[in-house]
Amino acid sequence: MPLILTHIEAGVLRIVLNRPEKKNALTAAMYEELNEAFDRAAAEPDVRAILFAAEGQAFCAGNDLADFQANPPRGSEAPVLQFIRNLACCQKPMVAAVRGPAVGIGTTLLLHCDLVYAADDAVFATPFARLGLCPEAASSLLLPRIAGYQRAAEKLLLGEPFGVDEALEMGFVNRLVPPEELLPYALRQAAKLVALPPEAVRATRDLLRGISGKGTAGKAHEALLERIDEEGALFERLLGEPAAREAIAAFLAGRKPGA
Ligand code: COA
Repeated sequence: MPLILTHIEAGVLRIVLNRPEKKNALTAAMYEELNEAFDRAAAEPDVRAILFAAEGQAFCAGNDLADFQANPPRGSEAPVLQFIRNLACCQKPMVAAVRGPAVGIGTTLLLHCDLVYAADDAVFATPFARLGLCPEAASSLLLPRIAGYQRAAEKLLLGEPFGVDEALEMGFVNRLVPPEELLPYALRQAAKLVALPPEAVRATRDLLRGISGKGTAGKAHEALLERIDEEGALFERLLGEPAAREAIAAFLAGRKPGA
């Protein structure tokens, strides 16, 4: 069974993380498949919106830590970095339907989505510092912008899990939806995007995000891409340091770091 399922219907490319037994933790091979899905979305004019969802009870447990250890990302062409750039540069609106844990990139990818819907069992966490790492996916830029500095600092430094009410208050979740209605609701919202004039959607997103590189929004987008690279280089270095190696080994062995 593919670990990333894709399906185009009524103008929506549905991208479903399909590794429920590992809480949809993402490996380099899965990022490659996600990158192919972005290529497909870009190439097919009939795709007017992207919907991220997941199989099972968890949205995404972040990067697969065993894969990080065995196959650490190197350089800006690493599949994870390409995935993050695809999130930042995607020309089609992105919707996410989140239930259960959304850890690390499971949370930071949401900061790039246009519409985020979550079930009441959704739990978010950005435990980068606890793992001896630093923020990624430009979350060090986007989270303070969305949620305010202190709140972002609390989440990015302490890394404690938080629920959907706090995520709503912080502003990166649009609406709380009952779990059984989550996917149908997110699909209906995506269908609304599909029904809008595509040029107007593109122009609006471009003003919001500066993806075409034009004007003041374009400068902000440039800064976003620079932050992605800056974080990526630091992250790569920290991954090889003793603190991260120990935190990852401890998670994989089911013990506390240093124990
Ligand atoms: N990398 C590798 N394996 C992971 C993983 C990850 N990020 N997240 C979960 N898994 C694996 C577990 O090792 C376990 O494997 P096993 O069944 O072979 O023992 C399986 O997925 C189920 O996870 P488990 O921890 O038993 O589920 P849970 O419901 O108790 O907890 C989480 C879910 C997501 C809260 C918890 O798994 C977790 O904290 N994961 C790590 C998150 C993280 O630090 N991500 C990296 C951010 S950069």
